[in-house]
Amino acid sequence: MVRNGFMFWGVMAVVIFGLGVAIPVANAQEDRHSFCPDQFEDESRAGWQQVDKVIEAMGLREGQSVADIGGGTGYFSRPFARVVGPRGIVYCCDIAPTLLEYLQLRAKVEELSNIVTVLAARDRPMLPPASVDHIFFCNTIHHLEDRVEYYKGLLGLLKPGGQLVVVDWKHERQKMGPPLSHTVPESTVIREMEEAGWVLIREEKFLQYQYMLIFQPENARSGPEKK
Ligand SMILES: C[S@@+](CC[C@H](N)C(=O)[O-])C[C@H]1O[C@@H](n2cnc3c(N)ncnc32)[C@H](O)[C@@H]1O
Repeated sequence: MVRNGFMFWGVMAVVIFGLGVAIPVANAQEDRHSFCPDQFEDESRAGWQQVDKVIEAMGLREGQSVADIGGGTGYFSRPFARVVGPRGIVYCCDIAPTLLEYLQLRAKVEELSNIVTVLAARDRPMLPPASVDHIFFCNTIHHLEDRVEYYKGLLGLLKPGGQLVVVDWKHERQKMGPPLSHTVPESTVIREMEEAGWVLIREEKFLQYQYMLIFQPENARSGPEKK
């Protein structure tokens, strides 16, 4: 934790004094659970989060586009950006301006010019239609107010053949993660997604504390209509 605190302020110092970037003032959209970047960037997370394996399971490729909704400090957005490369793009959509500012600074230091931070609204990520190949959520769906409506609104954001991935805390008492009441059971995610017009196409079981569910729009599975 402490080392990550140094990391954060180290990055800030380099960017502020080295590159002369002004820090924008946070606005009133800030989440009511206020997050500190250290929470997401803790070094111990690398041991259980298995980012590379998640990326492999998503099938993310060079040149693709991703929406990391509730992306926070970009714990996933940054590795996504490395995989998709300069021909691809990663939209990190979040309602917390301070976290997006942290990511902007880190992306600059890490020379990831293909990350675009997007100040999301509570009820939508604020992306144009048909803009991404992958929609990704990690540990975020608990924060959405009307999840079914939110998921319905995401259908139009995918390019043809695109998919939506949910990685979230298992609904179990575990040594890692939030209180049980802040977790959404896997069965609830699948039911709500189906209600919104998505179908589960795969589930990955390799994560210790989280489930990983992959969905596609229902109409993408039904194929062309027969005459
Ligand atoms: C627990 S954090 C997860 C951050 C990141 N996905 C990760 O795995 O490190 C949840 C994030 O969701 C964001 N959030 C909460 N409600 C949101 C909403 N309606 N739309 C977009 N982001 C939201 C919060 O600001 C926070 O950054």
